[in-house]
Amino acid sequence: MEFPQRYLIRFSPREIPHVFTDILVIGGGIAGMRAALAVPGDLRVLVVTKDMAAHSNSNYAQGGIAGVISPEDRFENHIEDTLVAGAGLCNRELVELVVREAPGQIDDLVRLGTRFDQTEGALALGKEGGHSHHRIVHALGDATGFEVMRAVIDRVSDAPNIELWEKTFTLDLITHEGQCLGALVHRQRKGKLLIWASQTILASGGVGMVYRETTNPPVATGDGMAAAYRAGARLRDMEFMQFHPTVLYVAGSSRFLISEAVRGEGAWLRDKNGHRFMPEEDPRAELAPRDVVSRAIVKRMETTQHPNVYLDLSHIDSATVHRRFPGIEKVCSNFGLDITRDPIPVRPGAHYMIGGVEVDLQGRTSLPGLWAAGEVTSSGLHGANRLASNSLLEGLVFGKICADGAVNAARQMKESFVVPPIAPHGRARKPGDLDISDVTISLRSLMGRNMGIVRNEELLAEAAKSVSFWCKYALGREFPTRRGWELANLLTVARLMIWSATQRKESRGTHFRADFPEKDNANWLRHLPCPASLEID
Ligand code: SIN
Repeated sequence: MEFPQRYLIRFSPREIPHVFTDILVIGGGIAGMRAALAVPGDLRVLVVTKDMAAHSNSNYAQGGIAGVISPEDRFENHIEDTLVAGAGLCNRELVELVVREAPGQIDDLVRLGTRFDQTEGALALGKEGGHSHHRIVHALGDATGFEVMRAVIDRVSDAPNIELWEKTFTLDLITHEGQCLGALVHRQRKGKLLIWASQTILASGGVGMVYRETTNPPVATGDGMAAAYRAGARLRDMEFMQFHPTVLYVAGSSRFLISEAVRGEGAWLRDKNGHRFMPEEDPRAELAPRDVVSRAIVKRMETTQHPNVYLDLSHIDSATVHRRFPGIEKVCSNFGLDITRDPIPVRPGAHYMIGGVEVDLQGRTSLPGLWAAGEVTSSGLHGANRLASNSLLEGLVFGKICADGAVNAARQMKESFVVPPIAPHGRARKPGDLDISDVTISLRSLMGRNMGIVRNEELLAEAAKSVSFWCKYALGREFPTRRGWELANLLTVARLMIWSATQRKESRGTHFRADFPEKDNANWLRHLPCPASLEID
């Protein structure tokens, strides 16, 4: 079977409405909103987001935004910490650019109305795993994403040249003669629509929902990655899914993130016997990079035969806990846990997709007319493992960079933009009696079992076989609803992730192969591009 198929659904351009804009932004998180706000008022911007803007993944960021602000800190320290976490695969030039931009981006957010937490009249700075200095600005204690997005969404609503369409699902990117010209979308209550745009910025976020245990909200289904792949853009490094070590693990709770900032304030990880195990695993103990802490937790869960470990804050002054972690305290109290006293049951969960659509230093993808920013991309900032609190930062920096590039390109095209003839596209099979939620649950469980924190050839081969089998009967169908389109996108991205993890026969950053436990710089100190097509047999 052909993989990928070009379009998710049938459409005939003659039968659906068309709209026009200068710049189309796909995604309503921090990267997309930052891009929209950077476009000058004489160009029209249309931002589409499949849910409500207030439900994007950025809204849930707890920790904060990393930036060199303290006089004791230096750009060189933040650069070095990012490179060390990235395990050899960061692009140094890009890391330097992003790190140097950080203080300016934080100032811009303050100007846009973000209220960051302060201490003695200055920005309060937290610390997280892999950081050598206190440099994380945060808001509302542990609800940074919520506060940043509140301010940014307010500014977007005030901007007369920006239109925001919520509940608008991007089905596919429209291409003609190797150029991206906008997108085919589905709007709630309005149906299919073609949006023609001189330039398109993809900022649609990640794919945490491909795992059962994830910190991500339900919107994170890899739609932008899958659409870009179908349209012919290059993706790479899809083996690198970052797992967050501490996700609340209580029956009945959503898999709520327990921020790394909690360990930054001094919390300890203990096993079911009360033993604090991190100091014997790594000299940085609880503040070692996430891949190290996640693997140590999995090992401890196996040796103690217990489904989780515990995060202990009982030795931290309770006033600090109330002030810094009001959100975590509230969620845990719903389950009868007083975090100043009771250990919090936690285990790792999928958190951040490091691989994605390849972009250069200007945010250009390999598909002319398409730019990309944020978690949907592989920019080279994170290498093989992302340093905590570098991702909102990347979204801000690249949102602005993409907008600048797209604005120049749109101005050059403005007079010459012509709608090309697009032939009707279609596939015939109806969804039939496919139980979409059953396949989705099976996929998410399989990914956790076979493509989780510890991988090997046998587990990956089994995962490839199951996902190919599901792709064969699910991807040929035309689904009429969001859940079906999301399943098709999850299957597409999962197939690429498994392919990539199978190819990379070494362990580096977030990718750990029990059958190749060492780094292999001779063969693998490089990025791994996805093939343009794959055989699904
Ligand atoms: C956290 O608060 O632990 C998440 C921060 C991040 O993933 O950058």
